[in-house]
Amino acid sequence: MAVKACIFDMDGVIVDTAKFHFKAWQRLADSLGIPFTEHQNEQLKGVSRVDSLEKILSWGNLELNSQKKIELMELKNKWYLDFVEEVTPADMLPGTFGFLTACKSNDVKVALGSSSKNAILILEKLEIIHLFDSIVDGNKITLSKPNPEVFLRAAREMDLTPADCVVFEDAISGVEAAKAGGFRCVGIGDPSILTQADRVVDSLASIQLSEL
Ligand code: BG6
Ligand code: MG
Repeated sequence: MAVKACIFDMDGVIVDTAKFHFKAWQRLADSLGIPFTEHQNEQLKGVSRVDSLEKILSWGNLELNSQKKIELMELKNKWYLDFVEEVTPADMLPGTFGFLTACKSNDVKVALGSSSKNAILILEKLEIIHLFDSIVDGNKITLSKPNPEVFLRAAREMDLTPADCVVFEDAISGVEAAKAGGFRCVGIGDPSILTQADRVVDSLASIQLSEL
């Protein structure tokens, strides 16, 4: 069936901000004396801010009250936003702009399906927000990836079914969410990590709309 919409995750798919999340979580983990590796970080990709903090605390066997957790999330987000301040259209990952504009010129709808509460700010900084027919971000959902809520809502906002859409994801949790929702899924990254994706490419520069 021909694709009617592409639903893009944001961090690590269209913009190189996954490294900023990693640096900010690493700084927070260091401040708590919790060892934190890139391998563990793979388990945080796509996961909401609160669920990410809970995972880090569990790795350190640390129990904190809810006020302290709120303070830590605010701190992490402040450090993250310091990096985001510098984001420009040049930070888009390879092939992103070409792929989005190919969608527009072929009447394929474009949606965002991101867990981030900072998505609007980042899409504005990238100067691509006008290309999106639907934006579903961390402010609109209650269930974090690997729950499919974010992608199901994006499809619904476009009056489409999962079978009409292809999801693009760099996170294990995001690929799981897409498959759980009945979507086809293109992984962006390492095929040995994104094992559940239907196909894995290294970036949007390595795939054509006509191949979907
Ligand atoms: C996802 C990232 O896109 O958004 C996660 O992959 C991040 O690493 C999540 O935790 C929530 O982002 P934010 O910007 O709301 O803290
Ligand atoms: Mg991502």
